[in-house]
Amino acid sequence: MSNQDKIKKLIDLRAEAKLGGGLKRIEAQHKKGKFTARERIELLLDEGSFEEFDMFVTHRCTNFGLEKTKFLGDGVVTGHGTIDGRVVYVYSQDFTIFGGSLSETFAQKICKVMDMAMKAGAPMIGINDSGGARIQEGVNSLAGYAEIFQRNIMASGVIPQISAIFGPCAGGAVYSPALTDFIMMTEQNSYMFVTGPKVVKTVTGEDISVEDLGGGKVHASKSGVSQFLVENEQEGLLILRKLISYIPQNNLEDPIVTECADPFDRMDDLLNEIIPDNPNQPYDVKDVIHTVADYGEFLEVHRNYAKNIVVGFSKFNGQPCGIVANQPNYLAGVLDIDASIKAARFVRFCDAFNIPIITLVDVPGFLPGSRQEYGGIITHGAKLMFAYGEATVPKITITLRKSYGGAHDVMSSKQLRGDLNYAWPTAEIAVMGASGAVAVLHGRKLRDIEDAEERAKFIADHEEEYTEKFANPYQAASFGYIDDVIEPRNSRFRIIRGLQSLATKKLVNPPKKHSNIPL
Ligand code: HXC
Repeated sequence: MSNQDKIKKLIDLRAEAKLGGGLKRIEAQHKKGKFTARERIELLLDEGSFEEFDMFVTHRCTNFGLEKTKFLGDGVVTGHGTIDGRVVYVYSQDFTIFGGSLSETFAQKICKVMDMAMKAGAPMIGINDSGGARIQEGVNSLAGYAEIFQRNIMASGVIPQISAIFGPCAGGAVYSPALTDFIMMTEQNSYMFVTGPKVVKTVTGEDISVEDLGGGKVHASKSGVSQFLVENEQEGLLILRKLISYIPQNNLEDPIVTECADPFDRMDDLLNEIIPDNPNQPYDVKDVIHTVADYGEFLEVHRNYAKNIVVGFSKFNGQPCGIVANQPNYLAGVLDIDASIKAARFVRFCDAFNIPIITLVDVPGFLPGSRQEYGGIITHGAKLMFAYGEATVPKITITLRKSYGGAHDVMSSKQLRGDLNYAWPTAEIAVMGASGAVAVLHGRKLRDIEDAEERAKFIADHEEEYTEKFANPYQAASFGYIDDVIEPRNSRFRIIRGLQSLATKKLVNPPKKHSNIPL
C-alpha cells in the first residue's frame, strides 16, 4: 500500500467512525427529535475545539456471534474541547451503535477521559443515551460500570462533574450520573430508573409509563434526582455552557471573575418596597435575586423541586456566587426535608469549588408535623446545618424578613461562621413567632380567661408587646449577631463590597479523614 493509500485509508476510517451505527440509525435518532452523539458535542463545545480519542476502538466480545458486528468507536465518542476557551473533557454515548450499550471497551474509553480530566484538573461532562449494560458482554459490562463509578467517586469534589441524560439511562447505569454534581434531563426522550416499567409491573403489579416512572419532569419535581429540566437538547447544551461559566476548573482554582458593566453600586428602590407590611403576605424572593445580581442574571438549580427554597448561580461585579434563598411565595418559605437536602447539596458544591455563598433569609421555621418527623427532618435539617457550618468559602447572609428558631441558626447564621450577616430593617429575628410565643409564655393565664373578648384582647396585647420587642433586627444587632442593619436598596453594593473584603479569606477545618455528615 502506498503512503497516499495509507492516508486515504485513514480518511476513510475516520469517515466510517463518524457515521456511527450508520445512516439509517442516525435517521431514526433524528426522527425521535434527538441529536447524535457527535452533534451534541459540536453544540456543546466551542466551534472546532473538539479533539477525539479512541475513534478506532472496537469491542472484543465473541458471545452470541457479536464478533461479526463491530463499529468503530464502539458506541461512545470521547475527548476534550473548550467552552469559552476553557478545557473540558467529554463523553457522549452513541445510541446508533448497539443502542449506546456499555461494553468493556466502551467503559475503558470513558475511564480514559475521566483519568485525563483528573490529571488536567478540568471539568468532566458526560452525555448519556444508552440501553445500559451490553447484554452480550455479561459481567465485563458490569465491571466496566463499576470502574466508572469508582472514578466518579474519586473525582467528586476535585473536578466538577456534569451529566446530561438525553435518552434512556436505566438499571445500574443511573449511578454514574447520580454520583456527579449535576444531572440535566430533557422534557421528552429522557428517562432514568433503576428498574423499568416491565419489571415494575412483574414485581409490584403497578402499571406505569416510562415518563411517569422516570421521565425528566418526574425527576425534576418529585424525586429531585435531576437539577436541570430543559425543553430540548439544544437549550440543555446552552445551559451546560452557562453552568460552566460559574464554576472553576477544579477544587484548587477559583471561579473566573469576568468584566462587569453593571454598576457595583446600582441601587434599586424596588427593594425598599418589596416586603409587604403584612408579615403573612408572600412575595417572590427571585425578584430580590434578579435585582441585586449582575444584569439580573440567575441560573437556577433544582427549579422545580422543593420550591420553598431557591438555589442557583449569579455574579456580583463579575464574581460567580451561589445563592440560597428561602421562598416566601411557596409554603411561606418553610424549611422541610426536601428543601434542607436541596440546599445542603448546593452549599456543599459551592464550598467544594470555592464559590462564595450569598444567603437570603425569610424563614418562618421548620415545617412541623408527624410526616416531617417520621421522614427524619431532624437528620435532614442537620444536613443543611452541617453544610453551612463546614463551609469555608466567603458567606454573606442578608435577613430580609423572618428568621425564626432553629431555622435562624441553620441559615448561615453568625455562629455557623457566617462572615457578614446583614439584616434589612424589616427583619424579625427571634426564637419563634408572636402567636406561638404568647401561647407558651401565657398558657396558664389564657386557660383562666373565660370571656372570649377578654381573651382575644389579652392575646393581641401580648403579641404586640412581643412583636415590638423581638420582631426586629435590633436585638440581634445589639449582640453583634447581625453586623449591620442595611437599607434594602443598598444590598447589591453591600454584597459586592463584602465579597471584595473576603476575597483573601483563609479558613481551614481541622484535619480529618472525612466528616460524617448526617446522611
Ligand atoms: C445490547 C442493545 C441494548 C443492550 C439496546 N440494544 N439495548 N444491545 N445491549 N442493553 C440494541 C438493540 O438490539 C438495537 O440493535 C439497538 O440497540 C436499538 O435498540 P431498540 O430496542 O431498537 O431501540 P428502542 O426501541 O429505542 O428502545 C431502547 C431501549 C431498549 C428502551 C433502551 O433497547 C431496551 O429496553 N434495551 C434494553 C435495556 C436493558 O434492559 N438494559 C440492561 C439494563 S441492566 P439494532 O442492531 O437493532 O440497532 C443494566 C445493568 C447495569 O444496565 C449495572 C451496572 C451496575
